[in-house]
Amino acid sequence: MTTDRSPMPKAGVRRIAVVGAGYVGLPTAAVLSHHGHMVTLAERDERRLEILRQGRSPIVEHGLEEMLKDGMSTGRLRTVRSAAEAVVGAEFVFLCVETPQSADGSADLSFITAAASEIAPHLADGAIIVNKSTVPVGTVGLIERVLGRADVVTVSNPEFLREGTAVADSLSPDRVVVGADDREAAARVAELFGDSGAPVVITDATTSELIKYASNAFLATKLTFINTMAGLCEAVGADVLDLVLGIGYDKRIGFEFLRPGPGWGGSCLPKDTAALVAISNAAGYDVSIVRGAISGNDEQMRRVVAKIATAAGGTFRDRTIGVLGLSFKANTGDRRDSPALSITKMLVAAGASIRAFDPTVTTADADQPDLAHVTVFDSAYEAVTGTHVIALLTEWQEFRWLDYSKIRGLVANPAIVDARNLLESGLVHRLGFSYSGIGRS
Ligand code: UGA
Repeated sequence: MTTDRSPMPKAGVRRIAVVGAGYVGLPTAAVLSHHGHMVTLAERDERRLEILRQGRSPIVEHGLEEMLKDGMSTGRLRTVRSAAEAVVGAEFVFLCVETPQSADGSADLSFITAAASEIAPHLADGAIIVNKSTVPVGTVGLIERVLGRADVVTVSNPEFLREGTAVADSLSPDRVVVGADDREAAARVAELFGDSGAPVVITDATTSELIKYASNAFLATKLTFINTMAGLCEAVGADVLDLVLGIGYDKRIGFEFLRPGPGWGGSCLPKDTAALVAISNAAGYDVSIVRGAISGNDEQMRRVVAKIATAAGGTFRDRTIGVLGLSFKANTGDRRDSPALSITKMLVAAGASIRAFDPTVTTADADQPDLAHVTVFDSAYEAVTGTHVIALLTEWQEFRWLDYSKIRGLVANPAIVDARNLLESGLVHRLGFSYSGIGRS
């Protein structure tokens, strides 16, 4: 067990426990310790814990490892295995555990309730529980019931960080949302983020929980909108990149989150849109716009498969596709609900073989269950060798700088489907490739 070498907290410095060292818990713990608070991070997965104790980050996340190391070397951040141990003496306990999707689309709350019952007897008097996990409306009340502690207040504090820029997003969030019926407790939680200068929205717990889903559903709808416009651009011979410029200068629309792609994925947008539909159904209300965003997204992935089929000569029989990118977006090793994997599965089902490269995947990962349908290689050049179509599915910047004249000599057929509009189409055309982007020629 790590010993707490920390001095007694100074004024304004809080003792905080963070339960769960995942994509939300790790940056939360790192940034809170960076702000000077005394943080104990609980992670029950031995492998993750061991990596952390070696001063490394268990996830690919820019700047995270340095911040974790800094916290551990100053004694402001320590790691323990059990949540029960972490919460002893903590004024604030952040719940950052998984809320996976159940079969019916709703969020599975078993990790939250298990954590709540584990910590309940060990909480300090008057502790504040801060729920950062994405949960259906009413979960703050559920946590309070499981805790069964009249002296303990539970507060909703949804997290809006993006993978890949988690540290930067946590250091300077666009806003901080805190929801609780006890407004004083909410204000105390908001103070923890005081240094960021972000606007703070204090509301009731139900609204706060819904804000998280509404944010992700809005973003997902925005993406389906632009992907749909990209399809329309192709149908009428327009250029979606110029279209984005033309609409984005309108300040009410803006440029953010308007990059057309192979469809949206990751561990949040698909799960949270499905959960929002489930919440709405349970409340007897129809969020048809969100259902439309989800089906439009499935459609987008099928459109990409159709493009690859066209580039392969109309058939996948005896065709090998060279896939560049497997993670759900660049700068993360996360492949959960990755459009790249959904698309490669459709390609394999249609008869194609896949050779793939991703900067965060090595041949040592080949036995991972989600990669069973592809053959992975340690270099992009190896992956594309002998292939009939190159499908660029994740926007890793390094794919721009590959030597495409060398690749021209390696492939069986010079065709590129660039589902991220990453490449300079003129350049690859000049080298003799056929090129198909999204919403542009
Ligand atoms: C998303 C939200 O953006 C965060 O605000 C939220 O905190 C997080 O979910 C969460 O709920 O935890 P993240 O899943 O990291 O963050 O990924 P995004 O950057 O939102 O990307 C989601 C998907 O949309 C990816 O597949 C990405 O490639 C795609 N995307 C994004 C586009 O195709 N075009 C864009 O312009 C932006």
